[in-house]
Amino acid sequence: MSPQSYLLGIDVGTTGAKALLCDQAGQVKASATTGYPILTPRPLWTEQHPADWWAATVKSIRQLLAETEIAPGQVVGVGLTGQMHGLVLLDAQGQVLRPCIMWNDQRTAAQCAAITRDVGAGRLLQLTGNPVLPGFTAPKIAWVREHEPDIYRRTARVLLPKDYVRYRLTDSFFSEVSDASGTSLFDVGQRRWSDEMLQAVGVPRSWLPEVTESPVVSAHVSPSAARETGLLAGTPVVGGGGDQAAQAVGTGIIAEGVVSVTIGTSGVVFAASDTYRVEPQGRLHAFCHAVPGMWHLMGVMLSAGGSFRWYRDALGGQEQSQAAQTGRDPYDLLTGAAAEVPPGCEGLIFLPYLTGERTPYPDPNARGVFFGLTLRHSKAHLTRAVLEGVSYGLRDSLELMRDLGLTIAQVRASGGGARSPLWRQILADIFEAEIATVNVTEGAAYGAALLAAVGAGVYDSVAEACQVAIQVTGSTRPGPASAVYADYYPCYRALYPALAPQFEALAQVVGRHS
Ligand code: XUL
Repeated sequence: MSPQSYLLGIDVGTTGAKALLCDQAGQVKASATTGYPILTPRPLWTEQHPADWWAATVKSIRQLLAETEIAPGQVVGVGLTGQMHGLVLLDAQGQVLRPCIMWNDQRTAAQCAAITRDVGAGRLLQLTGNPVLPGFTAPKIAWVREHEPDIYRRTARVLLPKDYVRYRLTDSFFSEVSDASGTSLFDVGQRRWSDEMLQAVGVPRSWLPEVTESPVVSAHVSPSAARETGLLAGTPVVGGGGDQAAQAVGTGIIAEGVVSVTIGTSGVVFAASDTYRVEPQGRLHAFCHAVPGMWHLMGVMLSAGGSFRWYRDALGGQEQSQAAQTGRDPYDLLTGAAAEVPPGCEGLIFLPYLTGERTPYPDPNARGVFFGLTLRHSKAHLTRAVLEGVSYGLRDSLELMRDLGLTIAQVRASGGGARSPLWRQILADIFEAEIATVNVTEGAAYGAALLAAVGAGVYDSVAEACQVAIQVTGSTRPGPASAVYADYYPCYRALYPALAPQFEALAQVVGRHS
């Protein structure tokens, strides 16, 4: 292998296609992202044109090759990742039949209920490790069967978003275990399609691609895709991974005991697991990891960084104008004041359910709450309470993992929220665990490039690739505030169950007046 070899990671994301090139040692050379629109033909529906993904992917790759002047022959492997769960339907000629129904589309509540009734909630957990959720792929197929029977009749292929890009890149149909896990059609324990689920949802086996492990070469760049992208025909393309699994590879979450917390708009708690574990009530996602022979557990909080952004926009006007004048970041101004407030906010607790919740309470009616306000509370208390409330919510997922027997030795934090030292300290104190930060923050595309490095033979295993490429650069240990939070956490925990009936009642009242 020549020292000038590079790996290409492609992330077919929710808002754009990112292409990233790194060298064999995992050093990122450059990345390029091309955006595309999300269509919302009705409230709660989200769709995208697969052709847009491909056009954006081509543009990002071309831009990268031009900027870096890396010769196509130096790119020795490609890894694909992307938004999970989306439904792409093709006809027998490989033509897209309708726009992709995306991961955050909410139209399939009735189909989820019907599949759960037909298969049985317990059997579903046995077969797929998860309940059927509206975002997952199978209920979308059932929706198309009911609402667009003509499309269903013409369907010959079902693909996930990144696997559609693979099809355009290689002319072949493959998926891999981590993304397939989010379809409700996959036997996550056995790492293969579930015949029983295929039958229950009305999906012929021939519609589905072969499934490989994530770092395995699945196909090669085709001559026509080579002409379009500028890559070399025959370049190997590995299985890749769903965005969460690939992102975990890209931050080194590949051993049991190391957990990641990503605070973007949503908050994701991700744990690698040596064995196949299923949360008895299905409150954590149980998916195959992008590391062969491993699984992962995942909790998703819908408004993590999103809560803080809402707070900045709704109540941080003063900080925003101050920031505009001084060139400082309004978040820094808010957290600076919050650091002066005692942990626990003197009895003020924030519930971060601003867009409903997914883990541990799959409840679209849940709402945000400030609980425990008194005359003593200042704006700085409110700010700190938001940071603490999100952190308690993330701890809920960690607790479910601990209940399944996972020991949590280290939590690696990433995403915008992890940039704040105060928030990292609050996380360490509330989790009662070390919070580490790592050298790379390139997300899922980087993980996909590392998977490609393994497939191309640069490394023998994902573990070896991560060991070379990823280093811990910072650490925040739990401090004396841990004891305070240990006292407050049960109060936080008690609030949702107490309020759940009122959230439901409120939703009905709101429904009557909107
Ligand atoms: C994972 C999930 C999101 C999407 C989009 O279960 O819903 O991560 O893949 O990013």
